[in-house]
Amino acid sequence: MAKLWGGRFTKETDKLVDTFTSSISFDQKLAKEDIQGSLAHVQMLGECGIIADEEARQIQSGLYTILDKVDKGEVDFQLEHEDIHMNIEKLLIDEIGPVGGKLHTGRSRNDQVATDMHLYLRTKTKELIKCLEKVQMALINQSKENFETILPGYTHLQRAQPVSFAHHLLAYFWMFERDKERLQDSLKRINVLPLGAGALAGTTFPINRGRIAELLDFDDVYPNSMDAVSDRDFILEFLSVASIIMVHISRLSEELVIWSSQEFQFIELDDAFCTGSSMMPQKKNPDVPELLRGKAGRVFGGLIGLLTVLKGLPLAYNKDLQEDKEGMFDTVETLEGSLNLLVPLLETMTVNTEKMRNAVAQDYSNATDIADYLAAKGMPFRQAHEVIGKIVIYAVQKGKYLLDLTMEEYQSFSRLFEEDVYEYLTPEHVVDARKSAGGTAAAQVKQQLKLAESKLVKNN
Ligand code: ARG
Repeated sequence: MAKLWGGRFTKETDKLVDTFTSSISFDQKLAKEDIQGSLAHVQMLGECGIIADEEARQIQSGLYTILDKVDKGEVDFQLEHEDIHMNIEKLLIDEIGPVGGKLHTGRSRNDQVATDMHLYLRTKTKELIKCLEKVQMALINQSKENFETILPGYTHLQRAQPVSFAHHLLAYFWMFERDKERLQDSLKRINVLPLGAGALAGTTFPINRGRIAELLDFDDVYPNSMDAVSDRDFILEFLSVASIIMVHISRLSEELVIWSSQEFQFIELDDAFCTGSSMMPQKKNPDVPELLRGKAGRVFGGLIGLLTVLKGLPLAYNKDLQEDKEGMFDTVETLEGSLNLLVPLLETMTVNTEKMRNAVAQDYSNATDIADYLAAKGMPFRQAHEVIGKIVIYAVQKGKYLLDLTMEEYQSFSRLFEEDVYEYLTPEHVVDARKSAGGTAAAQVKQQLKLAESKLVKNN
């Protein structure tokens, strides 16, 4: 099959080379962006008098016909035409004749492919922001229902201090909020137009890059044509942000796995979101959060892959850059799928408030509070810490929790103890006493929830 660039060649390309260099199997995902970019380019060519108005009109109408066929899945892309750009150009020439060959005037595949990627990532970034917001909404809804639910808060995975479950869940809300901000910010750099850079040095035609930018709704054009065709920072940035999002998804998933274990039983995942074992009939496995945790691996892989591709590249375009695509597509799809699954997973889980409350009653996580109690009565905190340490050893030896010790026992450690210590030590009081800004006290969590909701409203 004749190549669009075949003029300089005396032989057919080796089949192995066709297969090895072709990107059409994966870059056909860019078909719509490619046509969208071409429509704007050709309109500009017509307006600038670089091609005749009538030619521009013919090419545009041909491109719309192809777009329609792409939508209907009627297009048969050819490996021999290497990539999406040459496939579309070939389809256009087949559709409208030799005038289709004017489309590529003043343009290179180098600035074309970069433009396609910018268009694709712009759309996907906006969609992913919406997906993140749905996860945030699910976290808010669960928080509202678990305002009064108390569970142990952990450090080192050891029970540390009781917290409100709403507070715990909202911690993830803020992680995803920062992720959204990162995506939003990256749009500034995505929304810059490479087209018009030509192969690397610009073009001899009197093109108007600003006009293409306007037609494609870009805020700006790359000021340097060499940078325009070789920059993939915007993809690196996306993969970095995606990796951070996957870290958050993975951490939350890890908690769901732990909480739903027999040992914890803090939550129960819905049957519709669990799977069974082929051998052990009693098993109900949290495969979904496990897989969400595992998916982080391939997303990090995409980031490391592209960093490695780019690190030694001289300016300007190099074919290595074709390797920017599969990792990016896979990351977009992995992220979309993961976020979309996280929403119903969170919405349908059952929270076992009693188990959580019992866990808090059966530990020493109120020890800090008696230290604070003595400190509030004038004992230096360091000394109070020492006294309570002794009380904890004593209680453990007696097989008692701190609320079970008698007043006599307390007073044998310090005369500062009075009856009010018991009220002080209930998990509810312990949680509610943490009224400092951003703390777990009900009043603070209520304020936090309000702030969280206002973040979502602002964006919608
Ligand atoms: N398929 C190529 C890519 O994805 C398009 C640009 C090819 N340019 C070139 N000069 N070979 O990067």
